[in-house]
Amino acid sequence: MSRLPPQCCVSRWRASAGARESEGPCESALVGSGPLLYLPLMIDEIKQAEHAAVARLAAVDDVDDLASIENDLVGKRSELGTLKSRLGGLDEEGRRAAGQALNEATRRVTAAIEERRAEVAARARAERIAAERLDLTEVLTRPQRGHLHLVTQTHMHLEDVFVGLGFTVSEGPEVETDWNNFTALNMPPEHPARSMWDTMFVDLGEPGSTVLRTHTSPVQIRVMQTQPPPIYTIMPGRVFRRDTADATHMPVFHQIEGLVIDRGITFGDLSGTIEEFTRAYFGRDFNARLRPSYFPFTEPSAEYDIQRPDGSWLELGGCGVVHPNVLRNCGLDPEEWSGFAFGFGTDRLPLARHGIDDLREMFTNDIRFLEQF
Ligand code: DAH
Repeated sequence: MSRLPPQCCVSRWRASAGARESEGPCESALVGSGPLLYLPLMIDEIKQAEHAAVARLAAVDDVDDLASIENDLVGKRSELGTLKSRLGGLDEEGRRAAGQALNEATRRVTAAIEERRAEVAARARAERIAAERLDLTEVLTRPQRGHLHLVTQTHMHLEDVFVGLGFTVSEGPEVETDWNNFTALNMPPEHPARSMWDTMFVDLGEPGSTVLRTHTSPVQIRVMQTQPPPIYTIMPGRVFRRDTADATHMPVFHQIEGLVIDRGITFGDLSGTIEEFTRAYFGRDFNARLRPSYFPFTEPSAEYDIQRPDGSWLELGGCGVVHPNVLRNCGLDPEEWSGFAFGFGTDRLPLARHGIDDLREMFTNDIRFLEQF
């Protein structure tokens, strides 16, 4: 509320409660009755109210905030509004002058509000557009593409080599009948050679009649029973034995089986095929050798070793000429047909190739290990 400076006596003023009413330095200047205000101070207050309103506006940068303070700036209860209600305290001339000043101030503040609203809205819009804009130069890291497991890669490589030698690829189930896994392979139930395979039995059908296949050899039986010779096929797959996992053994591992059935097939064909395969898969620096051995389903039987460039030997698997009993068990006449078979573990191949010293590494599925290959 404006107060009359003591030295002034242009017009009488009577402020609200507590103001000096009759102590003005110039009693004679007080005329008439009623609350009279001092115009220059009123004008000053109008200017200040306008400035304050404009300053407050400058601090607002949100359309909603602006809407919520608009009433505070130009509404009835705003500073300008309150000043308007006090115009009556001026004399007529003062009222006109102050009223005009007040209207102009209100108009300017209103214009400033609109201007600010436009600014704030434009900025908000620009920000929204910027946020929604597609940055075509942005580099996004794409989800990394995985790759086939080392075992799968090895099998695919082996398949490629054998397909190149004229073989087809066959598959059989991992849960097998005892007959396919043993009996048909010339190992009747009481045959001691069965103990060469630590077998896991499946609780299905007659006790002991269903096994997790201990080798890929039962696929030979399935192939010979379902397709007429000549047969030139390989049978890759997963096999199971009751074994404790260590650096060189896993209870679940992989083999690849080979079977050739045709007329006049001899041990010489087996030897030549093994040699050809060794060169194709391992390279010219590797040699193969066959050592006499025993398997119930081949006669004669041999162990297949490869010689590494450093001269050392690595035992890969077994092979031999298919036993006549096996042919008979599959309904083939041994007088008409003969063949050879081989089978070896495939998990050791990537081990040797990549210098991995623990078989378990390949199957614990640590992605940091696997993604190296
Ligand atoms: N099935 C044999 C094993 O797991 C390996 C084997 C030996 C397969 C001789 C054959 C073969 O086909 O003729 O130990």
